[in-house]
Amino acid sequence: MLVAANGMVFILISKRNGMAKINTQRISVTMNTALNSQMTKEAHAAQIYLAYGAWANSNGYEGISNFLFRHAHEERNHMMKILEYILDRGGKVTIEAIPAAEKLPKDIQDCFEKVFQQETDNTKSVYSVVKKSLEEEDWATWNFMQWFVKEQIEEEKLAMNLLDKVKIAGGDEASDEALYALDRQLERTPDEAKSAEDATTEHP
Ligand code: FEO
Repeated sequence: MLVAANGMVFILISKRNGMAKINTQRISVTMNTALNSQMTKEAHAAQIYLAYGAWANSNGYEGISNFLFRHAHEERNHMMKILEYILDRGGKVTIEAIPAAEKLPKDIQDCFEKVFQQETDNTKSVYSVVKKSLEEEDWATWNFMQWFVKEQIEEEKLAMNLLDKVKIAGGDEASDEALYALDRQLERTPDEAKSAEDATTEHP
């Protein structure tokens, strides 16, 4: 079975020292696959936000474009978190091809609806990894994934806020002036939405 010369050497040394080869992988193969696929999904999200950001910029919405580019960066950070976790648990990372965004938005309203859809899809995917960790009683992964559960509450809220803003601007009927004001506003919008968990009676 061991064709590699190095592998043979390793076995000989191991035997001489009386050591057995220990499996250091602390996540199951199924969990490794699920995490790897979530990692790719986060990279895909970054790809989608990049595409929407470029679309917004070419249509004259520099503020919205800037917001979407910053969000693409955040999605890459999510990808990196999962990549590091798989390695920390002795798993194997497989970097896979990322598909392009399926369709570009037709207007700002459509863009924000697509952002909301993207985030709710990702929440579903995060929940399926959490469910798997529960079934496997893999409490380390369950605990790790709670960060993503909380993050998705914020991400969905951020997407809902975008839809509220475009609705106030007039939705499909929004004037150029209203969209210009929205564009300026989004240039300065924080990347994170405030979470209900941080709310107090003094600071709701
Ligand atoms: Fe990484 Fe927008 O979810």
